[in-house]
Amino acid sequence: MGKVRKNKSVWGSRITNKTSYNFKKFGASIDVDKRLFREDIEASIVHVEMLCKQKIITLRIKNKIIWGLKKISNEIKKKKFHFNSRYEDIHMNIENRLFEIIGEDAGYLHTARSRNDQVITDFKLWLRKANKEIIKSLTTTIKIIINNSEKHVYTVMPGFTHLKNAQPISLAHYLLAYVEMFNRDKKRFQNNFLDLMENPLGVGAISGTSFNIDRNYTSKKLKFTKPTRNSIDTISDRDFVVDFLHASSLCSMHISRISEEFIIWNSEAFNLISLNDKIVTGSSIMPQKKNPDPLELIRGKTGAIYGNLFSMFTVLKGLPLSYFKDLQDDKKFVFDTFDQLKNSILVLNDVLKNVLFNKKEMKNLAEKGYITSTDFADYLVRELKNY
Ligand code: ARG
Repeated sequence: MGKVRKNKSVWGSRITNKTSYNFKKFGASIDVDKRLFREDIEASIVHVEMLCKQKIITLRIKNKIIWGLKKISNEIKKKKFHFNSRYEDIHMNIENRLFEIIGEDAGYLHTARSRNDQVITDFKLWLRKANKEIIKSLTTTIKIIINNSEKHVYTVMPGFTHLKNAQPISLAHYLLAYVEMFNRDKKRFQNNFLDLMENPLGVGAISGTSFNIDRNYTSKKLKFTKPTRNSIDTISDRDFVVDFLHASSLCSMHISRISEEFIIWNSEAFNLISLNDKIVTGSSIMPQKKNPDPLELIRGKTGAIYGNLFSMFTVLKGLPLSYFKDLQDDKKFVFDTFDQLKNSILVLNDVLKNVLFNKKEMKNLAEKGYITSTDFADYLVRELKNY
């Protein structure tokens, strides 16, 4: 290994001119991908354990690197780590700090590995947790809706088609329609696990490595079920990102629909629900107002979530194989979608816990608009068919 690379980029011996200030700022992703630090360190530890097991590095170097990585992890957790855009991304920030802590042996960490397989490994590990978190919040949503439904089996309301009174229904029946949607959402997030269970680590920059690595070992340690099969596809594949953004978009669409529903029901014109003061805001000029802002915000955020899906699709549509820098923004889309969706579900859960259904008004409305015409027609056909 060469000298300690103080303040030098990894490609410092090949590219000698200083990177332009504007490009450095533009190209750095550290502000976004620092969220991957846990996964990056976890995967790096498993990687060096494998290198040692395969006798590619010595036990002494393995222990030294793992010690350094754990120290870095603590520094980041305690907010004592200085993230530097000079080192572009989380992988290089950590590696550079490792050089500072343990010296030139840090270079062995990059043996038989490229940032190309490193970033996808981290990202898949992160997405597995994200999927689980969303599934957990949706389970809470479903529980709250079922709880509300149990109280309203006998609450009669008009079922609407075209927003016109159609047929009388039970409020529980109505609310449980959303349980079906959120269950399908959960299934979609669960399905995403299949692709998140294939281990990209070991495919290197594009064509694997000449070192005798053990991908089954890293798969097992990182709880992947098996290694990915084709290294070129592995490097360029972001289907698992699109899957997450798609599942999130659908889920967000469902949340937006129930929000819109409640916004309409909360209007004076409908007056079918009232919202607790905890989940409304007032107006700066009209003292009588109680506005359903949280629901409107959820509805609005769905646009940004769709936007992230289409941004990712658009980034991918013209990319030949395999890695291109365009792909770096995948994390921005996913983190933003995850944050927006997670918060939207949490706020929706608050709304669902703080909504009062106006039974009287539901019944009044159910008596309007000749809502039992179909039942009456059915009655006539059934009872008078022999006449
Ligand atoms: N920060 C990069 C990304 O997220 C890491 C991969 C870099 N690979 C490369 N060949 N430049 O995409």
